Amino acid sequence: MEKIVVFTGAGVSGESGLKTFRDMGGLWHEYAIEDVASPEGWNRNASAVLAFYNERRTSVLAAQPNSAHEAIARLELKFEVIVITQNIDDLHERAGSSNVIHVHGEILKARSSVDSSLVYELNKPTIELGELCEKGSQLRPDVVWFGENVQQMEACLEHFATASRVITVGTSLTVYPAAGLVKKAPFSAEKYLISPEAQKVPYGFRFLRGQATTVVPHVVTCWLAGRKPV
Ligand code: APR
Repeated sequence: MEKIVVFTGAGVSGESGLKTFRDMGGLWHEYAIEDVASPEGWNRNASAVLAFYNERRTSVLAAQPNSAHEAIARLELKFEVIVITQNIDDLHERAGSSNVIHVHGEILKARSSVDSSLVYELNKPTIELGELCEKGSQLRPDVVWFGENVQQMEACLEHFATASRVITVGTSLTVYPAAGLVKKAPFSAEKYLISPEAQKVPYGFRFLRGQATTVVPHVVTCWLAGRKPV
């Protein structure tokens, strides 16, 4: 069965009402990364970091998958599909995708702040100061902060190297090492970059301009019908 890799960023959840980072009104225009998404910020003011993620987690829980997430899930009807996402929301899973790798972690999970192997499903929208892991340390969001190791990169490199088709959607491709994954796709693979605005297109990718909820369902419909998207 042909393998498709779908590489997504915040833009694929934009039309579900979740903020991106670098667009107008994006999160990094509102907050300083070093204050809310770095180990230094956590050590300086853990409650500000918890509040930042509590607010985003509440938005994630209120959001619904959109037609781009749903179209990506439909690809599993005919293909082996690996979704590699930089997003920490669970919209791909809720849309029905069964193989999702979160290279920047998952906001709906909590983690010990002294032992990253201690991960807990969150069954409530917030993590509060004073909520401790089994080793007695403060719980933190199970997300990857700047300066921390990205997750499952080896597996992601292998998936890209063995993909026959690649869709990259909703990412500015500015944060490494995740952004570097797209260069690992085979020359022979059919590769598309989808974005509403012009951006640097990785070598060998065809740029399809438009919103995720317009273009992704179009590509998926073509692929399921055995056609090339025009
Ligand atoms: N459809 C498709 N693409 C969209 C849409 C949309 N409706 N809206 C915005 N986009 C595109 C923007 O044009 C931009 O290229 O999504 C991209 C969002 O880029 P960023 O805000 O930089 O988000 P992302 O690429 O996911 O950021 C990567 O940076 O801060 C870290 O950990 C964070 O995972 C995140 C990483």
